[in-house]
Amino acid sequence: MPITTCVFDAYGTLFDVAAAARQAAEGGDFPSLTDAWPQVARDWRLKQLQYTWLRAVAGRHTDFWQVTQDGLDWALEAGGLSDPALRKRLLDLYWELQAYEEVPAMLAALKAAGLNTAILSNGSPEMLEGAVASAGIGGVLDAVLSVESVGIFKPHDSVYDLVGARFGCARDEVLFVSSNGWDAAAASGYGFTTVWVNRAGEPQDRLWAAPGHVLRSLHDIPELAGV
Ligand code: LAC
Repeated sequence: MPITTCVFDAYGTLFDVAAAARQAAEGGDFPSLTDAWPQVARDWRLKQLQYTWLRAVAGRHTDFWQVTQDGLDWALEAGGLSDPALRKRLLDLYWELQAYEEVPAMLAALKAAGLNTAILSNGSPEMLEGAVASAGIGGVLDAVLSVESVGIFKPHDSVYDLVGARFGCARDEVLFVSSNGWDAAAASGYGFTTVWVNRAGEPQDRLWAAPGHVLRSLHDIPELAGV
């Protein structure tokens, strides 16, 4: 089946999750971050994701905003950086993460070709609304789908079910794009055509399925979608 619907993970895929720590470091108000920000960004992201998986396995869902704060608290403590002002600055920046530079034109090309476009994310609806608005991409997205409507995090199948429920499309009409290798792999196993945007050149996750395509950025998504 030709692709009718392009669906994007949000954090790490459209929005640069390292931008919050990088911007806080560049601002100059937090000298302790100057050298430490890459490690803080990595720990924050890793713990945030681990907490989503642990909560899904244990049946103890809470929303992504809580998990994001919990992951940050772990990362700041690990770095000896616990400081309420720094914590607040980083969390404020998370609501307005920078989109990768190629995102607006890429989404506009998909929309111009008549394809459906959407975000499918662990993010809470409020967080996603903030990020979409600050990136100015609301006009080129048909839907912003949050796991909050099913109450469990990725990669549970019920999250991927949200796409067919919203667009009435078959699984093989969907191109699903994620920078998280495990998300792209699980979505392949679900039946979507998938792209893993492997910006950092990481090894492939060893899981029950594998991403269909691997790219280094989002530039070639329209071509892959047949535009
Ligand atoms: C998301 C996380 C996994 O946006 O990046 O769903």
